[in-house]
Amino acid sequence: EKGGYDHFMLKEIMEQPDALEDAMRGRVRPEDNQIHLGGLHGHWDQLREADRIVIAACGTSWHAGLVGEYLIESASRVPVEVEYASEFRYRDPVLREGDVVLVISQSGETADTLAAVREAHSKGIPCFGICNVVGSTIARETDAGVYLHAGPEIGVASTKAFTAQVTVLSMIALKLAEGRTLSKAELADNIRALAGVPDKVRRVLNASNGALQSMAHTYRYASNFLYLGRGYNFPVALEGALKLKEISYIHAEGYPAAEMKHGPIALIDRSMPVVFMAMKDSTYDKVLSNIEEVAAREGSVIAITDDKDAELESLCEAVVEIPQTKEFLSPLLTVIPLQLLSYHIAVLRGCHVDQPRNLAKSVTVE
Ligand code: M6R
Repeated sequence: EKGGYDHFMLKEIMEQPDALEDAMRGRVRPEDNQIHLGGLHGHWDQLREADRIVIAACGTSWHAGLVGEYLIESASRVPVEVEYASEFRYRDPVLREGDVVLVISQSGETADTLAAVREAHSKGIPCFGICNVVGSTIARETDAGVYLHAGPEIGVASTKAFTAQVTVLSMIALKLAEGRTLSKAELADNIRALAGVPDKVRRVLNASNGALQSMAHTYRYASNFLYLGRGYNFPVALEGALKLKEISYIHAEGYPAAEMKHGPIALIDRSMPVVFMAMKDSTYDKVLSNIEEVAAREGSVIAITDDKDAELESLCEAVVEIPQTKEFLSPLLTVIPLQLLSYHIAVLRGCHVDQPRNLAKSVTVE
């Protein structure tokens, strides 16, 4: 049942190339330059013409929602807000005609996310869903939506659901961008890039698993970790920290890289590993100067990059190289080494990877 792996989590990490292919099958169509998402058929104008899209979710799904905010705003120029479902539903949120709520939930059963659906409906606001579990309560109660088709996720730590959620959000963003922010040629280019992601994920898994396993040996005794990223990779920093916390019980925090100097830099010393997403994109120069600041304080820098050059190597204790892709797709690749690192650290620490203490796969209490 675990497909020859020791844990469901590793199986689910490793099956991400297939899960993403399944999520895109028949939907991402480079052959006719189309994104086809039947579940939202008839609702595209509602989304394109919305005054505001409010995304509500919890945990890892909330992190995917943050990536979705960047994706959808830049593609559609519709303002997006991302809310913790648990906060949204208890604070009598301001919702007006013209707003659209989008909830994201792997299980489709998370109590707070379900309550957000009901909150939207009680105010007459349309609510769409992105769920993995077919026929789940949230899938049934939303007005329309998209299934991930990622297959069952058993490990409590969400892995393939996150990448499938970001894939679906990328499809939604491209569909909204069509005829708006992207020309036909640009759309075609982006659709091809999205279709090429599963192969690149495969390359990351093949090339970096061994290296991350040995890095796990080096860092297994750390008691704190910091994860930093900017732009599309800021939510990935949050996700990397959550993965480490929940399965290895090591305290970790994720921040937008530039926030480091507003507080967390005070924590940095020799015993503090700092994981940076350092992709050669519009954020690189600023991230590099943050890396220099950490290195100057003797923090151990681990960088995830698509361009391992001598300068970066001289500043870092470890560098994990991943393939290049378009900036908006990079979370789908940068998150993979972070999943593997937390998995291997948790195994070395003897933790119950698939069923971490105090956690349940779906949180059906509020
Ligand atoms: O099923 P959902 O996506 O609604 O679950 C939301 C969170 O409970 C979930 O993502 C949780 O944070 C995971 N354990 C993270 O790995």
